[in-house]
Amino acid sequence: MSNFKRLKERIAELKQQLRAVIVAHNYQRAEVQDVADFVGDSLELSRQCIKIDAQTIVFCGVRFMAETAAILNPHHTVLLAEDSAGCPLADMISIDELREWKQRYPETLIVCYVNSSAEIKAESYICCTSANGVKVVESVPSDDILFVPDQNLGHYISTQTKKNMILYPGFCHVHHRLKPEQVKLAKKLHPEAQVIVHPECRPDVIALADAALSTSQMLRYAKASSNNSFIIGTEEGLLHRLRQENPDKSFYLVSNSQICTDMKKTTLETVAQTMELRQNIVTVPEEVRLKAKQAVDRMLAIS
Ligand code: 13P
Ligand code: SF4
Repeated sequence: MSNFKRLKERIAELKQQLRAVIVAHNYQRAEVQDVADFVGDSLELSRQCIKIDAQTIVFCGVRFMAETAAILNPHHTVLLAEDSAGCPLADMISIDELREWKQRYPETLIVCYVNSSAEIKAESYICCTSANGVKVVESVPSDDILFVPDQNLGHYISTQTKKNMILYPGFCHVHHRLKPEQVKLAKKLHPEAQVIVHPECRPDVIALADAALSTSQMLRYAKASSNNSFIIGTEEGLLHRLRQENPDKSFYLVSNSQICTDMKKTTLETVAQTMELRQNIVTVPEEVRLKAKQAVDRMLAIS
């Protein structure tokens, strides 16, 4: 029996024993996505987590995603399938930095990208994801907004709203590294293809795209489009579902550097071991959880 098959069988047994649900982000390895009960973008995963009727949530993604599940589900056990999987973008802002910025711009309300720690969420008025950023910002009862931590998503939202947005200078290394010259070259190689990129990309990359979308919005866009080929400006893990759901369409990456090493730390081995040892339990101190939940709930209420 192949190693993958053996691990998949063991994970299925452990799922029953733990009364567990496995959720995975769209950037996970193909074989990890394949053992998950639900695969989605950050907004869908948050929504899914409030519906879960199981004792244990096994989260295949990065820490802030599992923390969001723990914020929303204090009575479930949330396991992160790889303890060291973090998000370098989320780590770009500390609570002290946020408090300093808040003092500098006291008239603003804080909107935080969900790619942030529970502590940052707890200090924010509302959260957003790449799927609902414009709607969230429009809903905020202030014309002045401090947006943390992703400058590119913040800039993209600012082009779609009249609100005055102050942007914290964080970025995602996977998306920020894509350059307009690379998009131009990909377009030259595939002139028939539409370009769809993530809003974590730089403004000059987004300017060359046909659409800037969250990962699950990209899946829906590619399926609904009459076009047959696409240049994709996001992490390569999305290609698994894009190709699976659109076997007759072609997908090309802007460059071969589109890999989030933290997302790839989760393997079938780490999923099985985490479940076997019931380890990597993610918890959030109750005081922080209650405040962070307000920011997440506000987002879920409007989108
Ligand atoms: P999505 O919410 O679009 O899936 O993005 C999450 C993420 O981490 C992007 O880098
Ligand atoms: Fe964080 Fe970027 Fe990885 Fe998404 S792709 S988890 S934003 S480092």
